[in-house]
Amino acid sequence: MLNVEEIRKDFPILSREVNGRKLIYFDNAATTQKPVQVINRVMEFYMKNHANIHRGIHTLSQEASQLYEEAREAIAKMINANPKEIIFTKNTTEAINIVAYTWALRKLKRGDEILTSLMEHHSNITPWITLSQLRGVKVKFIGVNVDGTLKMEDIPKLISKRTRLITITHASNVLGTINDVKGIVKIAHENGIPVSIDAAQSAPHMPINVKDINCEFLAFSGHKMLGPSGTGVLYIKSEILKEIEPTISGGGTIKNVKWIPEMGTCKIDWGEGPEKLEAGTPNIAGVIGLSEAAKYLMKIGLENIERHEKMLVEETMKGLMDIGDVKIYGPMNPNIKVGIVAFNINGLNPHQTALILDQYGIAVRSGFHCAEPIHQIIGAEDGSVRASYYIYNTKSEIEEMLNVIREIVELRRGGEVR
Ligand code: ALA
Repeated sequence: MLNVEEIRKDFPILSREVNGRKLIYFDNAATTQKPVQVINRVMEFYMKNHANIHRGIHTLSQEASQLYEEAREAIAKMINANPKEIIFTKNTTEAINIVAYTWALRKLKRGDEILTSLMEHHSNITPWITLSQLRGVKVKFIGVNVDGTLKMEDIPKLISKRTRLITITHASNVLGTINDVKGIVKIAHENGIPVSIDAAQSAPHMPINVKDINCEFLAFSGHKMLGPSGTGVLYIKSEILKEIEPTISGGGTIKNVKWIPEMGTCKIDWGEGPEKLEAGTPNIAGVIGLSEAAKYLMKIGLENIERHEKMLVEETMKGLMDIGDVKIYGPMNPNIKVGIVAFNINGLNPHQTALILDQYGIAVRSGFHCAEPIHQIIGAEDGSVRASYYIYNTKSEIEEMLNVIREIVELRRGGEVR
């Protein structure tokens, strides 16, 4: 069990008031709050260690470089990767775009196919649609069942001789559904197809072992796991990383750039490590803060976080069902969900519900959550209300949200809220 009361003391923002009420923060799938350990680490870096990395022989630059590389080790440890397989990005979106425009753009040919799903965040749809326009590749979509689970049986039927990549979310940012990514990788590899995983909603919430999953790419955001905003991670399996040449390039991505007078141009030898995909000066302080976040989460234990969130999800779904007149989307089994519950009060626009909750200091997201196709599938044309949890959320906070929802539903039954 998590010691939530102790954990909460690390998050200064949780003691602030919103609209005269104590803040209840249920928008963790969008971004999480930051503990003092992360805030202080970033501040300390700027006060004591700040310099550019991998570019200076002087002591300060060496110190900063070392801290940055230690951060790579901490993140690698969290997902059981080799540090040389970890690329720092600004978020999951950028990480997926790197897969699209470095690896896929160079590797795929006209007529090749990519499989994704209807459960994806727009970030795992739009780069592939753009790539289809640039390269003439075809994007095919794995379906979703009415209960919010993936149509696994679609996958072998959709795979063809031209399938070159399966790119899939580990956990839906709307429904919380956890997909069997290990099973998907197995089917893909039997057909010689690499797999890219969007782990934005899984890596912060459950143990991830990239060696066990055996995927080629895995992306997640630092800011969704207590780290500073502007931080993200892309894991690339070493065999693949070796052969990748950067598309976004410049300082830091090269071994050398030689002027060849007789050819009138420059010859580039790309760097070999992950830094070849980290062009320019990166978010050094952010990455160092992120490593503090990873250590914080590992200390609590990702398996404990997973258990805590399942308890919160179960509590929410039970409460919403008791109230009635509420439509809950996605799987009803908390064991196949991360800490996300999407719902609508019957007949009420999701933004109206979110605005009422906000009056009580309760922050939830409403709308399409950057994932419109899944809302079409589940029949939520106006979007949904999404409560998403993390380590500092409690049963009593959920009770408070349920009380407000109960009140709204009762007023509606009495004809008072339209
Ligand atoms: N991707 C984030 C969300 O689902 C922003 O809310």
